Amino acid sequence: MELDDIQRASQEQFARRSERYGNGHVLENVEDVQAALQTISLPARAKVLDVATGAGHTGLFLASLGHDVTLADIAQPMLDKAAKTAAERGLTVKTFQHPAEQFPHAGETFDLVTCRMAGHHFSFPEKFISESARALKPGGYFLLIDGTVADDRPEAEAWIHSVEKLRDPSHNRFLTPRAWSALCQTHGLAVRSVTIFPFKQPDLNWYFETAATPDENRVKVLELIARAPAAAQSLFRIGEEDGKIVWWWQRLTLIAAKPD
Ligand SMILES: C[S@@+](CC[C@H](N)C(=O)[O-])C[C@H]1O[C@@H](n2cnc3c(N)ncnc32)[C@H](O)[C@@H]1O
Repeated sequence: MELDDIQRASQEQFARRSERYGNGHVLENVEDVQAALQTISLPARAKVLDVATGAGHTGLFLASLGHDVTLADIAQPMLDKAAKTAAERGLTVKTFQHPAEQFPHAGETFDLVTCRMAGHHFSFPEKFISESARALKPGGYFLLIDGTVADDRPEAEAWIHSVEKLRDPSHNRFLTPRAWSALCQTHGLAVRSVTIFPFKQPDLNWYFETAATPDENRVKVLELIARAPAAAQSLFRIGEEDGKIVWWWQRLTLIAAKPD
């Protein structure tokens, strides 16, 4: 499949940065996935597709529970890294390189489609949702975890969009809970729950290093922080701790189901 500019930017960015997403990355903590799984019932060996798996934290956790997991990503070095970790842990997974906007899988294949902290990179979130709905078996579940901005906060959304775009050029857009829910409903996924959990950005330098943010963009981000509108300051709780700039992301967990 020919990639568009946004997909290519993600592929290049994450191919370059794959080593940063393994041990020690904040995404290694999968308590958010564990919490979401408490609310859905899966077969003992569910067929799972983890879209935009990155270093595989979500998919490998699901494999460790005994599920039959397929890891997908647009960047082959990420899949290689995840496959290596799987082998080290004695887990068996399948890997497929493909964009989130077009799956090579037959319809009605999976009991669960997951996608964590990646949807904001996608060029066509609607295609990703329609592909997820297509690939799910009737009665299957969709679990999306991603950065978001609460509904009806355009000023705060514009601020975090500018910050994130400067930090990581492969960022596309954070979608609000309402926007994700509407896409699910349009494509036949019944939304079961939508929750926003705050998630701390603990260290701006770590955050820059993860994305290899160029120096001139770091300066611009610092300017944006200094001039953050009140709406952004309060929503993201921008502040300082131990001399470090911190804020709290808004992280969305959306669970939907494909009707039987
Ligand atoms: C932050 S990492 C994902 C983290 C991972 N899901 C986890 O739970 O640890 C983002 C991943 O999204 C992938 N990605 C970005 N855009 C994509 C797209 N359009 N299709 C598929 N993968 C994409 C990147 O290659 C990267 O590996």
